[in-house]
Amino acid sequence: MALYPANKQAIAACADKLKQGDLVALPTETVYGLAGDATNGEAIAAIYATKARPQFNPLICHVADIAAARAIGRFNDTAEKLAAAFWPGPLTLVVPRQADCAIHPLASAGLDTIALRVPAHETAQKLLRAVARPLVAPSANPSSRLSPSNAAHVAAMLPDIDVLDGGACAIGLESSIIGCLDDTPLWLRAGGLARADIEACLETKLAEPPEEKATQARLAPGRLARHYAPQSGLRLNAEAALENELLIGFGTTTEPCFANLSAMGDLAEAAANLFFVLHSADKAAQQSGQSLAVMAIPMEGLGEAINDRLARAAA
Ligand code: TXA
Ligand code: MG
Repeated sequence: MALYPANKQAIAACADKLKQGDLVALPTETVYGLAGDATNGEAIAAIYATKARPQFNPLICHVADIAAARAIGRFNDTAEKLAAAFWPGPLTLVVPRQADCAIHPLASAGLDTIALRVPAHETAQKLLRAVARPLVAPSANPSSRLSPSNAAHVAAMLPDIDVLDGGACAIGLESSIIGCLDDTPLWLRAGGLARADIEACLETKLAEPPEEKATQARLAPGRLARHYAPQSGLRLNAEAALENELLIGFGTTTEPCFANLSAMGDLAEAAANLFFVLHSADKAAQQSGQSLAVMAIPMEGLGEAINDRLARAAA
């Protein structure tokens, strides 16, 4: 409905709305989230409806600190280690739900696990403390569209939602998700925290979730959903634009580019620019009747998550 600069009054007003069961879009350091009270089934149902999100795909529950997270989920040694090292930050932990936890079952789509994250963004922290309850917040885009990395993206895609404007997201990719359900930590989603940093912290390799469909539906339901699609076609690993293509560059190049994700070839910079560039290139391509092409991104560090999002955008 409107964009509000994230000042004290706006944060207090949004906290009141959330307590009444309304939805609010909030900035985090990864992407903007469509937030609702995690204890309120009607608010959660409104999130699924607003995003047209498949009901099998559960939401991430955001809390202000690890103590609040422990009241909701059971933390094993892996989860404790990762939370101590990386929270607040771009990391989500999937853990077993506490039997008596206040989170509405719809938040975890009926699973006996729950995804938890402590965001670092100042506005998200202030809002969580003002509401004083956990907030579910999927990325603030209609299901299967590009994630929003600034407030204008949200306003364009979800015009009926109030948005707290906290500026452009510093990381620009959704959180990395780790399953901490037994002794084997699972790599459920590549995101804003590189796999190598997580493996260095745990001093062990992360395992992939099993491919088998029923198991994947239980452990990694998000992998079943097609995601992050721009409306224009997208070609990967391009060396140059073909006729009728807008080129998205990476690194030093003499090819004419619509935009370069990072002229210096810096993967953190490319991650922060990714959704912004895809949103604006998509708009330009639709206006000119062209399609998109993107240069190859190296598969190291945050490149894994960037390539994951690009592959889904091209699918
Ligand atoms: O950075 C982020 O994580 C952003 C910001 C707003 O916090 N949120 C976000 O939410 O990306 P969303 O809904 O777009 O993605 C949540 C992912 C989905 O892939 C979902 O399948 C997975 O988390 N997920 C949620 N609960 C789960 C659970 N209990 N077990 C396994 N995966 C889960
Ligand atoms: Mg999403």
